[in-house]
Amino acid sequence: MQHNDALQIIRPDDWHLHVRSGEMLKSVIGMTAAQMGRAIIMPNLSPPVSNAAQAKQYHQEIMNALPADTRFTPLMVLYLTDNTTPKQIQTAFDGGLVVAAKLYPAGATTNSDSGVTDINNIYPSLEKMQQLGVPLLVHGEVTDAKVDIFDREAVFIEQILSKVIEDLPDLKIVFEHITTKAAVDFVLSSGNNIAATITPHHLLANRNDMLVGGIKPHYFCLPILKRRDPHQLALLKAATSGNAKFFLGTDSAPHAKEHKESDCGCAGILNAHCAIELYATVFDSQNAMDKLEGFASFFGADFYNLPRNTDTIVLKKQDWVVPSSYAFADSTIVPFMAGKILNWKMA
Ligand code: NCD
Ligand code: ZN
Repeated sequence: MQHNDALQIIRPDDWHLHVRSGEMLKSVIGMTAAQMGRAIIMPNLSPPVSNAAQAKQYHQEIMNALPADTRFTPLMVLYLTDNTTPKQIQTAFDGGLVVAAKLYPAGATTNSDSGVTDINNIYPSLEKMQQLGVPLLVHGEVTDAKVDIFDREAVFIEQILSKVIEDLPDLKIVFEHITTKAAVDFVLSSGNNIAATITPHHLLANRNDMLVGGIKPHYFCLPILKRRDPHQLALLKAATSGNAKFFLGTDSAPHAKEHKESDCGCAGILNAHCAIELYATVFDSQNAMDKLEGFASFFGADFYNLPRNTDTIVLKKQDWVVPSSYAFADSTIVPFMAGKILNWKMA
C-alpha cells in the first residue's frame, strides 16, 4: 500500500538502542516495543553487560518490563573490556541471546569507563568474532584529549578502524551512529562486511540546532551533531540511497531532564517515542519514501543474518504534536522534537 498519505511497511527493527534498567527501563521500553520488532540493546549499564550471565539477566529484566500485549525481541550485546577473552565471546554466542559485541573506547561516552584502552587488548576476541561471524559494533570516536570533539570520528577511522579492517579483513563491523561524510565515504569504500547505522537526530539536526540562539542541551549527544554541509547532507544521501550498508539505529539514549539541563549535562537523546515517524519525515523530505522500508526493515536484519520481520506497520501523513515531556522513573524526560509538529504518525 502506498498512497502519498499512507505507507505500509514490514515492521522495522532498531539496530542501536539504550533502554537502561530498573524504573528507567520500565518508562521507555514500551515506546520501542510499540514500533520495532527487535532492537539491539546497548550494554553500557553500570556495571556493563560484559559476560553471558549478565546478558541473560538483563534480557530477563527487559522481558519482564515489556507491556503485556507486545511481541518484541531484545537482541543482547556483549560489552568488550580489556579483559574480555575469546572463551567469553564463545560462551556468550553459544548461549543464543547475544548477537554482537560492542567496542567502546574507554571514556568515549556515557558509562564507558570499563571500555577498551588499547585496541590490541581485544585482538584475540576480535579474531574469535571474525571466525564465528559475530558483528563488532563500534562507537567510532577516539578519546585523546588533544583531538577536537568534532574531529574524533574522522581520527578514529584513520587511527583505529582502518587498522582493524586491514588486520581482520573478514570481521563484520557496524560503524554505529555515523555522523560525518568521512564515515559515509569510509563505509562506501569498504567491503560488504562493513555497515553503519544512522540516527534520526543526525539526519534531522546539525550543530546549529544545538548552539544557535542559545545552547540546547536536549540536542547534545555523542558523537556530537556536526555541520550541515558536508556532514548532515552526506548522511541524508546515504540513508535514503537504498544502499544496504546503511540501516536504522536510533541511539535513543534517555537521561532525566535534570541530568540534561545541568552545568555538566549528559549526552544522549530520547527518540524512541517517535523513531519511525522521525525517519519517515526524513525520507519524505528527500522524496525517498520508497527507500524507507529497506533502511528500516530489511538491511539490518540481512546484515545480522536474521530473518526479516513478517508483520507490518502503517504510517499516515498526519500532523501531530510531540509531547513536551514523558514520565521517566521518578523524574521526567524531554524527548527529541518536544512540542514540535511531525507530519507522519504510526497508525
Ligand atoms: C549514549 C548513552 O547515553 O548511553 N549517549 C549518547 O549520546 N549517544 C551513549 C552512546 O551511545 O554514546
Ligand atoms: Zn548509543
